[in-house]
Amino acid sequence: YVLGIDIGTSAVKAILVNEQGHVCQESSVSYPLSQPQFGYSEQDPEAWVQGTIKAVQNLLHDTKISPADIQGLSLSGQMHSLVLLDQNHRVLRPAILWNDTRTTAECQLIEQTLGKKLLAITQNRALEGFTLPKLLWVKNHEPHIWEQATSFLLPKDYVRFRLTGQLAMDLSDAAGTLLLDLEKREWSPEICSALDIPLSLCPRLVTSQTHAGNLREDIAQQMGLTSATRVFAGGADNACGAVGAGILSHGRTMCSIGTSGVILSYLTQLPDVKGKLHLMNHAQEGSYYAMGVTLAAGYSLQWFKEQFAQEYSFDDIMQWIDQVPAGADGLLFTPYLVGERTPHADADIRGSFIGIHAAHTRAHFARSVVEGITFSLKESLTILQQAGQKSEHIVSIGGGAKSETWLQLQADIFGIEVVKLDHEQGPALGAAMLAAVGCGWFDTLDDCASNWLKPSQSFSPDKEKAKRYEELFAIYQEVYANTREINQQLRVFRG
Ligand code: XUL
Repeated sequence: YVLGIDIGTSAVKAILVNEQGHVCQESSVSYPLSQPQFGYSEQDPEAWVQGTIKAVQNLLHDTKISPADIQGLSLSGQMHSLVLLDQNHRVLRPAILWNDTRTTAECQLIEQTLGKKLLAITQNRALEGFTLPKLLWVKNHEPHIWEQATSFLLPKDYVRFRLTGQLAMDLSDAAGTLLLDLEKREWSPEICSALDIPLSLCPRLVTSQTHAGNLREDIAQQMGLTSATRVFAGGADNACGAVGAGILSHGRTMCSIGTSGVILSYLTQLPDVKGKLHLMNHAQEGSYYAMGVTLAAGYSLQWFKEQFAQEYSFDDIMQWIDQVPAGADGLLFTPYLVGERTPHADADIRGSFIGIHAAHTRAHFARSVVEGITFSLKESLTILQQAGQKSEHIVSIGGGAKSETWLQLQADIFGIEVVKLDHEQGPALGAAMLAAVGCGWFDTLDDCASNWLKPSQSFSPDKEKAKRYEELFAIYQEVYANTREINQQLRVFRG
């Protein structure tokens, strides 16, 4: 058996997988997210570690499997979130998460200081969510903490450090820091020195499949495992999500809807997308992926449910959606609840409902929320298509793939076949696949994918609805430019 562990934003999820790719057991432990100030988003790294130990304990408790039969484990995790360590490897402050937007000034500084070099080296633009702006924020605002910092890690790397005692970061996660030379696969001394970040803060780089140590004796005991369990480096949640969805060869694209939403396509070479999409190293050695991100995807629906439909389940909400025609009778939603990444890279933009009419019901609002999230993802898909990335179908994973209504809606809005996988498990499965290859069960991730991953259902676009959505999408794309200024004016009224 192997374990795949995903350090998510709201919970850690652990799965136990056998050689046939069957998920025998899973367990999840949630943890809080704190928002000490408007736009801030932080978490206690200790909660990830304790959550991981507990999730594995729970998972093993429910099986009769001998600990010695668990040959390896690997991790995936939320990207970009900053963990700062002192010389004794103690955590210096709460982690600043990927969805924290306090770093607009630092992003401007990075863009001004590095100019075109930033995109040439890191292949990405400076966005609030990425790690380098967070490092600069601590340097500027918390000098007493900065002085003590000797290294930084990302969430799953910190958990792996606690499990094995070894500091390292894998390339797919390092790609989201804005400090990595993506093509050279090395930290960029040029970026570090231009922004006065000591290169020594950057941890050792490894590939996702690297055997990064074994479990420490004490941790193994707490978890109910043995120290013979090998730990493989693992990767960014989106990279591992892609592995777990079989996005391992040219022409493969996935749509992943969790808290954030992602459209991701496999690459062997870096296209010139001028920073409109993120380009990252893949967890499969030697390859890359392009990705567009909707910050509040599942989060928009969760917000809607919490505020307006608390007593109902997501299934109920999906049933309401089924009763409303495509286009929600002229009600349009933009999901910019916490700003937007792709394609606007604008932390200040806010969402909107447009076209509200007295005949609209709560069900119309629900439908427009789900349509708006999906339109936002289509914007990323369109940029990919314009860059020449053509796919025959899209593999849909995450919360958005749990509902047939939403899967059909994705096919209708994307205008392309959408495929759902059997027993899809998101990034945790990708992590388990890295461990399976690491343990020698398969030669390559591709071999593992062809053995383990099976499509279960496919959804073809409905011609009528797809046409209607094409028209609506053109209107949706107008909303950003037309609401940007109004949102700027509203800024002074924000809490
Ligand atoms: C990707 C991103 C999010 C997080 C979510 O750039 O910020 O998708 O990885 O965990």
